Amino acid sequence: MIIKTQKEIPSSEITDSAVFKERRNLIKTMLTAVAGASVSGAWAGENKIDLANLTKGDFSTAVFTPTPVELVKNYTNYYEFTLNKEDSTKLAQKFVVDPWSLEIGGEVENAGTYHLEDILHQQTLEERVYRFRCVEAWSMVVPWVGFSLGNLLKLAKPLSTAKFVKFTAMYQPETMPNQRNHAMLDWPYVEALRIDEAMHPLTMLAIGMYGDVLPKQNGAPLRLVVPWKYGFKCIKAVVKIELLENAPLTTWNKFAPAEYGFYANVNPTVPHPRWSQNSERELGSGFFTSRRQTELFNGYAEQVASLYHDMDLRYFF
Ligand code: MTE
Repeated sequence: MIIKTQKEIPSSEITDSAVFKERRNLIKTMLTAVAGASVSGAWAGENKIDLANLTKGDFSTAVFTPTPVELVKNYTNYYEFTLNKEDSTKLAQKFVVDPWSLEIGGEVENAGTYHLEDILHQQTLEERVYRFRCVEAWSMVVPWVGFSLGNLLKLAKPLSTAKFVKFTAMYQPETMPNQRNHAMLDWPYVEALRIDEAMHPLTMLAIGMYGDVLPKQNGAPLRLVVPWKYGFKCIKAVVKIELLENAPLTTWNKFAPAEYGFYANVNPTVPHPRWSQNSERELGSGFFTSRRQTELFNGYAEQVASLYHDMDLRYFF
Protein backbone atom coordinates (compact mmCIF):
# COMPACT_ATOMS: atom_id res chain seq x y z
CA MET A 1 0.00 0.00 0.00
CA ILE A 2 1.36 3.41 -0.90
CA ILE A 3 1.25 5.93 1.92
CA LYS A 4 1.72 9.45 0.70
CA THR A 5 3.55 12.06 2.69
CA GLN A 6 1.37 14.87 3.91
CA LYS A 7 0.96 17.68 1.45
CA GLU A 8 2.09 20.92 2.98
CA ILE A 9 -0.11 23.93 3.29
CA PRO A 10 2.01 26.97 2.40
CA SER A 11 2.36 29.26 5.41
CA SER A 12 0.71 32.03 3.39
CA GLU A 13 -2.45 29.93 3.48
CA ILE A 14 -2.51 29.36 7.22
CA THR A 15 -4.90 31.83 8.78
CA ASP A 16 -3.69 33.31 12.02
CA SER A 17 -6.01 32.60 14.93
CA ALA A 18 -7.04 36.24 15.47
CA VAL A 19 -8.14 36.56 11.85
CA PHE A 20 -9.86 33.19 12.13
CA LYS A 21 -11.84 34.27 15.20
CA GLU A 22 -12.74 37.58 13.63
CA ARG A 23 -14.07 35.85 10.50
CA ARG A 24 -15.99 33.34 12.55
CA ASN A 25 -17.58 36.09 14.60
CA LEU A 26 -18.45 37.90 11.41
CA ILE A 27 -20.22 34.84 10.05
CA LYS A 28 -21.99 34.31 13.37
CA THR A 29 -23.17 37.90 13.39
CA MET A 30 -24.42 37.55 9.87
CA LEU A 31 -26.20 34.35 10.73
CA THR A 32 -27.78 35.96 13.77
CA ALA A 33 -28.93 38.80 11.57
CA VAL A 34 -30.90 36.41 9.43
CA ALA A 35 -32.26 34.30 12.28
CA GLY A 36 -35.98 34.06 11.95
CA ALA A 37 -35.91 34.56 8.22
CA SER A 38 -38.77 32.57 6.84
CA VAL A 39 -36.83 30.97 4.03
CA SER A 40 -33.70 28.93 4.26
CA GLY A 41 -31.12 30.06 1.80
CA ALA A 42 -31.58 33.60 3.10
CA TRP A 43 -28.47 32.90 5.14
CA ALA A 44 -26.50 32.90 1.95
CA GLY A 45 -28.17 35.81 0.23
CA GLU A 46 -26.29 38.88 -0.82
CA ASN A 47 -24.62 40.73 2.08
CA LYS A 48 -25.44 37.93 4.51
CA ILE A 49 -22.54 35.49 4.65
CA ASP A 50 -19.30 36.20 2.90
CA LEU A 51 -18.73 32.69 1.58
CA ALA A 52 -15.80 33.84 -0.50
CA ASN A 53 -13.67 34.92 2.45
CA LEU A 54 -14.01 32.07 4.89
CA THR A 55 -11.11 30.70 6.79
CA LYS A 56 -9.20 28.00 4.94
CA GLY A 57 -9.89 24.75 6.77
CA ASP A 58 -7.14 22.41 7.94
CA PHE A 59 -7.82 20.38 4.84
CA SER A 60 -7.59 23.19 2.34
CA THR A 61 -4.56 22.37 0.24
CA ALA A 62 -3.59 25.31 -1.88
CA VAL A 63 -1.24 23.10 -3.92
CA PHE A 64 -4.29 21.90 -5.85
CA THR A 65 -5.44 24.21 -8.61
CA PRO A 66 -9.23 24.26 -8.70
CA THR A 67 -10.92 23.07 -11.88
CA PRO A 68 -12.54 25.96 -13.80
CA VAL A 69 -15.90 26.57 -12.12
CA GLU A 70 -17.87 26.59 -15.37
CA LEU A 71 -16.84 22.99 -15.99
CA VAL A 72 -17.78 21.85 -12.49
CA LYS A 73 -21.17 23.58 -12.83
CA ASN A 74 -21.99 22.22 -16.26
CA TYR A 75 -20.74 18.63 -16.19
CA THR A 76 -22.77 17.06 -13.42
CA ASN A 77 -24.20 13.68 -12.48
CA TYR A 78 -27.72 14.17 -11.12
CA TYR A 79 -29.88 11.20 -12.03
CA GLU A 80 -33.04 12.59 -10.43
CA PHE A 81 -33.06 15.03 -13.35
CA THR A 82 -31.35 13.29 -16.24
CA LEU A 83 -28.64 10.84 -17.22
CA ASN A 84 -27.07 13.54 -19.36
CA LYS A 85 -24.28 15.50 -17.66
CA GLU A 86 -24.86 18.63 -19.75
CA ASP A 87 -28.64 18.84 -19.18
CA SER A 88 -28.93 18.90 -15.39
CA THR A 89 -27.90 22.57 -15.13
CA LYS A 90 -31.06 23.64 -16.95
CA LEU A 91 -33.37 20.94 -15.59
CA ALA A 92 -32.41 21.52 -11.95
CA GLN A 93 -33.42 25.18 -11.88
CA LYS A 94 -37.04 24.46 -10.90
CA PHE A 95 -35.92 22.34 -7.97
CA VAL A 96 -37.14 23.90 -4.70
CA VAL A 97 -34.36 24.21 -2.11
CA ASP A 98 -36.09 26.83 0.00
CA PRO A 99 -37.04 26.23 2.81
CA TRP A 100 -34.87 23.23 3.70
CA SER A 101 -34.95 20.96 6.73
CA LEU A 102 -32.68 18.14 7.76
CA GLU A 103 -33.97 15.25 9.84
CA ILE A 104 -31.48 13.46 12.11
CA GLY A 105 -32.62 10.25 13.73
CA GLY A 106 -32.10 6.57 14.43
CA GLU A 107 -29.60 5.47 17.09
CA VAL A 108 -29.08 8.91 18.67
CA GLU A 109 -30.04 10.60 21.92
CA ASN A 110 -31.10 13.85 20.27
CA ALA A 111 -33.26 13.07 17.26
CA GLY A 112 -34.91 16.01 15.55
CA THR A 113 -35.67 17.99 12.43
CA TYR A 114 -33.79 21.23 11.99
CA HIS A 115 -33.90 24.19 9.64
CA LEU A 116 -30.70 24.55 7.68
CA GLU A 117 -30.18 28.05 9.15
CA ASP A 118 -30.27 26.67 12.68
CA ILE A 119 -27.68 24.05 11.81
CA LEU A 120 -25.42 26.68 10.31
CA HIS A 121 -25.69 28.71 13.52
CA GLN A 122 -23.87 25.96 15.32
CA GLN A 123 -21.26 25.06 12.75
CA THR A 124 -18.06 26.73 11.65
CA LEU A 125 -18.08 27.14 7.91
CA GLU A 126 -14.77 26.74 6.17
CA GLU A 127 -13.36 26.32 2.72
CA ARG A 128 -11.70 23.02 1.83
CA VAL A 129 -10.04 22.32 -1.51
CA TYR A 130 -10.51 18.61 -2.25
CA ARG A 131 -9.79 16.31 -5.12
CA PHE A 132 -12.97 14.66 -6.41
CA ARG A 133 -12.71 11.36 -8.31
CA CYS A 134 -15.71 9.90 -10.12
CA VAL A 135 -16.06 6.14 -10.54
CA GLU A 136 -16.29 6.90 -14.29
CA ALA A 137 -12.53 7.72 -14.21
CA TRP A 138 -12.61 11.52 -14.41
CA SER A 139 -11.57 13.91 -11.69
CA MET A 140 -11.64 17.54 -10.65
CA VAL A 141 -10.48 19.80 -7.82
CA VAL A 142 -13.21 21.72 -6.00
CA PRO A 143 -13.01 24.41 -3.29
CA TRP A 144 -16.03 23.39 -1.19
CA VAL A 145 -17.59 25.50 1.53
CA GLY A 146 -19.12 23.62 4.42
CA PHE A 147 -18.60 22.05 7.81
CA SER A 148 -17.50 18.80 9.36
CA LEU A 149 -20.21 16.12 9.39
CA GLY A 150 -18.71 14.69 12.60
CA ASN A 151 -19.37 17.95 14.45
CA LEU A 152 -23.03 17.79 13.50
CA LEU A 153 -23.35 14.12 14.45
CA LYS A 154 -21.77 14.77 17.86
CA LEU A 155 -24.60 17.19 18.64
CA ALA A 156 -27.08 14.39 17.93
CA LYS A 157 -25.20 12.20 20.47
CA PRO A 158 -24.85 8.82 18.71
CA LEU A 159 -25.63 5.77 20.87
CA SER A 160 -23.11 2.94 21.11
CA THR A 161 -25.40 0.91 18.83
CA ALA A 162 -24.85 3.38 15.94
CA LYS A 163 -22.51 1.65 13.47
CA PHE A 164 -23.59 3.12 10.13
CA VAL A 165 -24.87 6.46 8.87
CA LYS A 166 -27.51 6.51 6.15
CA PHE A 167 -28.17 9.61 4.01
CA THR A 168 -31.37 10.14 2.05
CA ALA A 169 -31.81 12.70 -0.71
CA MET A 170 -34.91 14.74 -1.52
CA TYR A 171 -37.84 13.04 -3.22
CA GLN A 172 -39.54 15.75 -5.27
CA PRO A 173 -40.91 14.18 -8.50
CA GLU A 174 -42.80 17.38 -9.42
CA THR A 175 -39.49 19.03 -10.14
CA MET A 176 -37.15 16.04 -10.41
CA PRO A 177 -38.51 14.49 -13.61
CA ASN A 178 -36.42 11.34 -13.66
CA GLN A 179 -37.83 10.29 -10.27
CA ARG A 180 -40.93 9.20 -12.20
CA ASN A 181 -38.75 6.63 -13.88
CA HIS A 182 -38.13 3.60 -11.67
CA ALA A 183 -36.64 1.39 -14.38
CA MET A 184 -33.05 2.00 -13.37
CA LEU A 185 -32.62 3.42 -9.87
CA ASP A 186 -34.87 3.41 -6.82
CA TRP A 187 -35.80 6.80 -5.41
CA PRO A 188 -34.98 8.59 -3.25
CA TYR A 189 -31.22 8.34 -3.74
CA VAL A 190 -29.62 6.78 -0.66
CA GLU A 191 -26.00 6.55 0.44
CA ALA A 192 -24.25 5.41 3.61
CA LEU A 193 -20.95 5.37 5.47
CA ARG A 194 -19.57 3.42 8.37
CA ILE A 195 -19.77 5.56 11.52
CA ASP A 196 -15.99 6.01 11.74
CA GLU A 197 -15.93 7.20 8.11
CA ALA A 198 -18.75 9.63 8.85
CA MET A 199 -16.94 10.98 11.94
CA HIS A 200 -13.62 11.35 10.12
CA PRO A 201 -12.56 15.01 10.02
CA LEU A 202 -12.16 14.95 6.23
CA THR A 203 -15.87 14.15 5.75
CA MET A 204 -17.93 17.26 5.25
CA LEU A 205 -21.38 18.55 4.43
CA ALA A 206 -21.04 21.23 1.77
CA ILE A 207 -23.38 24.19 1.32
CA GLY A 208 -21.23 26.03 -1.19
CA MET A 209 -18.36 25.92 -3.64
CA TYR A 210 -16.02 28.46 -5.22
CA GLY A 211 -16.99 30.99 -2.55
CA ASP A 212 -20.67 30.90 -3.41
CA VAL A 213 -23.74 28.83 -2.53
CA LEU A 214 -23.98 25.42 -4.20
CA PRO A 215 -25.60 25.56 -7.63
CA LYS A 216 -28.74 23.42 -7.70
CA GLN A 217 -27.18 20.96 -10.15
CA ASN A 218 -24.25 20.43 -7.76
CA GLY A 219 -26.46 19.40 -4.86
CA ALA A 220 -27.92 22.53 -3.25
CA PRO A 221 -28.54 23.26 -0.55
CA LEU A 222 -26.65 20.47 1.27
CA ARG A 223 -24.49 17.62 -0.02
CA LEU A 224 -22.05 15.13 1.36
CA VAL A 225 -18.35 15.27 0.37
CA VAL A 226 -16.08 12.32 1.18
CA PRO A 227 -12.87 12.99 -0.75
CA TRP A 228 -11.30 9.52 -0.58
CA LYS A 229 -14.34 7.76 -2.07
CA TYR A 230 -15.79 7.66 -5.58
CA GLY A 231 -18.12 10.54 -6.30
CA PHE A 232 -21.37 8.55 -6.21
CA LYS A 233 -21.00 8.35 -2.41
CA CYS A 234 -21.27 12.17 -2.25
CA ILE A 235 -25.05 12.36 -2.14
CA LYS A 236 -26.70 15.64 -3.12
CA ALA A 237 -29.76 17.37 -1.66
CA VAL A 238 -29.62 15.53 1.68
CA VAL A 239 -32.86 15.67 3.71
CA LYS A 240 -32.32 12.87 6.22
CA ILE A 241 -29.43 11.39 8.20
CA GLU A 242 -30.07 8.20 10.19
CA LEU A 243 -27.67 6.38 12.48
CA LEU A 244 -28.19 2.64 12.21
CA GLU A 245 -27.01 -0.62 13.71
CA ASN A 246 -26.72 -2.35 10.33
CA ALA A 247 -25.53 -1.28 6.90
CA PRO A 248 -28.48 -0.11 4.78
CA LEU A 249 -28.89 -0.83 1.09
CA THR A 250 -27.60 2.06 -0.98
CA THR A 251 -28.80 3.19 -4.41
CA TRP A 252 -25.89 2.25 -6.67
CA ASN A 253 -24.86 -0.79 -4.67
CA LYS A 254 -28.40 -2.15 -4.98
CA PHE A 255 -28.49 -1.40 -8.71
CA ALA A 256 -25.20 -3.14 -9.57
CA PRO A 257 -23.37 -4.57 -6.53
CA ALA A 258 -20.48 -5.91 -8.62
CA GLU A 259 -19.80 -2.45 -10.01
CA TYR A 260 -20.51 -0.06 -7.13
CA GLY A 261 -19.24 -1.35 -3.82
CA PHE A 262 -20.49 -0.11 -0.48
CA TYR A 263 -17.05 1.22 0.44
CA ALA A 264 -16.16 2.66 -2.99
CA ASN A 265 -12.77 3.86 -1.80
CA VAL A 266 -10.71 5.22 -4.68
CA ASN A 267 -8.28 2.43 -5.51
CA PRO A 268 -6.24 2.21 -8.73
CA THR A 269 -5.56 -1.49 -8.21
CA VAL A 270 -9.21 -2.57 -8.18
CA PRO A 271 -10.69 -2.09 -11.67
CA HIS A 272 -14.34 -1.40 -12.29
CA PRO A 273 -15.66 -4.52 -14.11
CA ARG A 274 -15.95 -2.47 -17.31
CA TRP A 275 -12.87 -0.21 -17.15
CA SER A 276 -9.57 0.34 -15.38
CA GLN A 277 -9.36 2.65 -12.36
CA ASN A 278 -5.63 3.09 -12.78
CA SER A 279 -5.79 6.59 -14.23
CA GLU A 280 -8.25 9.42 -14.61
CA ARG A 281 -9.09 12.22 -17.04
CA GLU A 282 -8.72 15.56 -15.31
CA LEU A 283 -11.61 17.86 -16.16
CA GLY A 284 -10.30 21.02 -17.74
CA SER A 285 -6.92 19.62 -18.66
CA GLY A 286 -7.71 19.56 -22.38
CA PHE A 287 -8.37 16.73 -24.78
CA PHE A 288 -4.74 15.87 -25.54
CA THR A 289 -3.39 16.16 -22.01
CA SER A 290 -2.16 12.86 -20.62
CA ARG A 291 -4.23 11.22 -17.94
CA ARG A 292 -3.40 11.52 -14.28
CA GLN A 293 -2.35 8.47 -12.28
CA THR A 294 -5.10 7.64 -9.79
CA GLU A 295 -3.92 7.59 -6.18
CA LEU A 296 -4.95 5.15 -3.48
CA PHE A 297 -7.71 6.78 -1.41
CA ASN A 298 -7.57 9.62 -3.96
CA GLY A 299 -4.37 10.92 -2.32
CA TYR A 300 -5.78 10.89 1.24
CA ALA A 301 -4.14 7.62 2.35
CA GLU A 302 -2.16 9.24 5.11
CA GLN A 303 -5.35 10.47 6.75
CA VAL A 304 -7.67 7.50 6.17
CA ALA A 305 -5.73 4.27 5.54
CA SER A 306 -5.89 3.36 9.25
CA LEU A 307 -9.69 3.07 8.97
CA TYR A 308 -9.16 0.01 6.77
CA HIS A 309 -6.14 -1.62 8.42
CA ASP A 310 -7.90 -4.98 8.66
CA MET A 311 -9.04 -5.11 5.02
CA ASP A 312 -7.13 -6.40 2.02
CA LEU A 313 -7.11 -3.43 -0.31
CA ARG A 314 -6.54 -5.60 -3.38
CA TYR A 315 -10.01 -7.08 -3.14
CA PHE A 316 -12.47 -4.88 -1.40
CA PHE A 317 -14.18 -2.03 -3.19
N1 MTE B 1 -26.65 12.66 -5.46
C1 MTE B 1 -27.92 12.56 -5.89
N2 MTE B 1 -28.92 12.88 -5.07
N3 MTE B 1 -28.22 12.15 -7.16
C2 MTE B 1 -27.23 11.79 -8.03
O1 MTE B 1 -27.52 11.39 -9.19
N4 MTE B 1 -24.84 11.52 -8.40
C3 MTE B 1 -23.60 11.13 -7.74
C4 MTE B 1 -23.20 12.13 -6.64
N5 MTE B 1 -24.36 12.49 -5.84
C5 MTE B 1 -25.88 11.88 -7.60
C6 MTE B 1 -25.63 12.35 -6.28
C7 MTE B 1 -22.50 10.96 -8.65
S1 MTE B 1 -22.57 9.57 -9.65
C8 MTE B 1 -21.44 11.80 -8.69
S2 MTE B 1 -20.08 11.46 -9.62
C9 MTE B 1 -21.46 13.08 -7.97
O2 MTE B 1 -22.66 13.29 -7.25
C10 MTE B 1 -21.30 14.19 -8.98
O3 MTE B 1 -21.20 15.43 -8.35
P1 MTE B 1 -21.18 16.72 -9.30
O4 MTE B 1 -22.29 16.56 -10.28
O5 MTE B 1 -21.36 17.90 -8.40
O6 MTE B 1 -19.84 16.70 -9.99
